[in-house]
Amino acid sequence: MRDPKRVAILISGRGSNMRALVEGARNYEVALIASNKPQAAGLGWARGRGLPTWSLESKGTAKEAYDRILNAALDDHSIGTIALAGFMRILSPWFVEVWSGRIVNIHPSLLPKYRGLDTHARALAAGDQISGCSVHIVTEELDAGEVLGQAEVPIQPGDTPGTLEQRVLTAEHALYPEVLNAFVLR
Ligand code: GRF
Repeated sequence: MRDPKRVAILISGRGSNMRALVEGARNYEVALIASNKPQAAGLGWARGRGLPTWSLESKGTAKEAYDRILNAALDDHSIGTIALAGFMRILSPWFVEVWSGRIVNIHPSLLPKYRGLDTHARALAAGDQISGCSVHIVTEELDAGEVLGQAEVPIQPGDTPGTLEQRVLTAEHALYPEVLNAFVLR
């Protein structure tokens, strides 16, 4: 049975937001770290913490077929909430429907601005004074679901996409656990 307080974190890479979510858990339990990249650096950290992990390379498997296998792993762990944290793969419509309203993601912009990739370069190119990050519900449309929380990060003179990314990432690490702790209670 799905328990909203049992959270799976889905990663593809370094997993710095995953770490923040593990360390900031109050109202939820991180019951599974799952990855579509068996070599993802974040998996090693999770194993070192004794957290349950699951991984399967997604390349070469049809999207929905892969998502059905992932779904079975989530059900095995009685997951009720999914937090995407640098999960670099678009989920199939089937999966998004099955988990409707129960998948959240963190995105490095103040949505609805800059959906998709290269958010920092785009904010700088637009001459924005303020950037930031958003936690939102995942729907079929990319980065378009309900925004659950945001943090603003002022853009500084001389900022590059790299320097801005670093400061926004720090803000992400504070925002994501705060929003997830509230989300699992609603
Ligand atoms: C972050 O910038 C996050 O906003 C975006 O992907 C990146 C993941 O970084 N969705 P990490 O793996 O959590 O360090």
